[in-house]
Amino acid sequence: MNYRKKILITGGAGFIGSHVVRRFVNNHPDYLIVNADKLTYAGNLENLKDVESKNNYLFSKTDIVSKESVTGLFNKHEFDGVIHLAAESHVDRSISSPDEFVFTNIVGTVNLLNAALHSWKDAFEDKLFYHISTDEVYGSLGSEGTFTEETPYDPKSPYSASKASSDHMVRAYNHTFGIPVIISNCSNNYGPNQFPEKLIPLVISNIKNNKPIPVYGRGENVRDWLCVKDHALAIDLIYHRGRSGETYNIGGNNEWKNIDLIRLLCRITDKKLGRSPGSSEKLISFVKDRPGHDLRYSIDSSKLQKELGWEPAPDFEALLENTVDWYLSNSSWLENVLSGDYEKYYDSMYSGR
Ligand code: NAD
Ligand code: TYD
Repeated sequence: MNYRKKILITGGAGFIGSHVVRRFVNNHPDYLIVNADKLTYAGNLENLKDVESKNNYLFSKTDIVSKESVTGLFNKHEFDGVIHLAAESHVDRSISSPDEFVFTNIVGTVNLLNAALHSWKDAFEDKLFYHISTDEVYGSLGSEGTFTEETPYDPKSPYSASKASSDHMVRAYNHTFGIPVIISNCSNNYGPNQFPEKLIPLVISNIKNNKPIPVYGRGENVRDWLCVKDHALAIDLIYHRGRSGETYNIGGNNEWKNIDLIRLLCRITDKKLGRSPGSSEKLISFVKDRPGHDLRYSIDSSKLQKELGWEPAPDFEALLENTVDWYLSNSSWLENVLSGDYEKYYDSMYSGR
């Protein structure tokens, strides 16, 4: 089959990546989508069961830290574009073991840039390296202010420092070698298929299993929450209509103190489980704060709204209810992840292929 475009999506077995892969495979049937993922603890091919047999989808178990593997993939497929999501993504893990964040987030990104540069050899027309990054590169805010695309970088955790480094490398390759790039920096995503080490799925899972809900510090930290499907739509728009060399901020316009969000999740989940109102709030347990915990993130997405007409969905509480529903009605997904059984899925589906 002659594909109109061949796109490499890295980290497609992860949380956001799986939503992006699904959207591109279904909405662009004339594109070949190659999902390259190492399948770390955060990669789960069960997230993509519904697209794995589509003709325009291929999975490649690839570690982006391996230069040879990345070069081999580019030689094999001659990609027109890259949407780069593969990363170590959890701040707490970056505090307990930062090295992997340097390898995957920085070295892995440079390997992809080098392979794209070599493969595209100055014939950059219709090519794009699209790098997915985070609002955490801008640092931490007090109670006032918001991040724009012009906010100077001031990363505070090993995770955000590694993402900031990768953003700088992407911009440096654009400036020095002319490779077309776009970067988007988004806020905290929520929705189906998120690994339950991150706040929202962890809280739902602990309420379901009657386990303590760990709240770091006093729960005063503020995050902006973005629906993952809105994010995937924004990525599609930016990939096709964003301007090369630009940065776009993506946010939900939806700031919550952690403790308020956790109480809301308790109310919703209690109602869904038929428990008496307030029963899960007893599980809330204030624990030692995360070292260097960023106080507040706030993101101004007006550039994306003005240039590409994107807007986040308005009704957060309804979307959060849908998210709770998803985790409660996909208990086998959650149990497989909690028990580690999801890691067997690759062998059962792909061994011998
Ligand atoms: P995730 O941790 O759920 O998934 C990451 C994926 O990358 C996994 O499938 C994992 O197997 C893969 N991966 C890790 N190391 C790899 C390597 N060396 N080679 C190939 N694949 C590897 O992450 P996510 O939450 O889906 O985040 C995706 C991207 O979005 C990341 O770049 C992250 O920094 C960024 N981001 C995420 C959020 C969020 O709220 N989740 C917010 C802002 C930015
Ligand atoms: P997280 O989902 O890890 O995302 P990030 O650190 O990238 O923003 O955490 C979201 C917020 O919730 C953050 O302020 C830390 C806090 N948090 C808790 O209070 N308890 C928890 O168990 C976790 C995982 C996070």
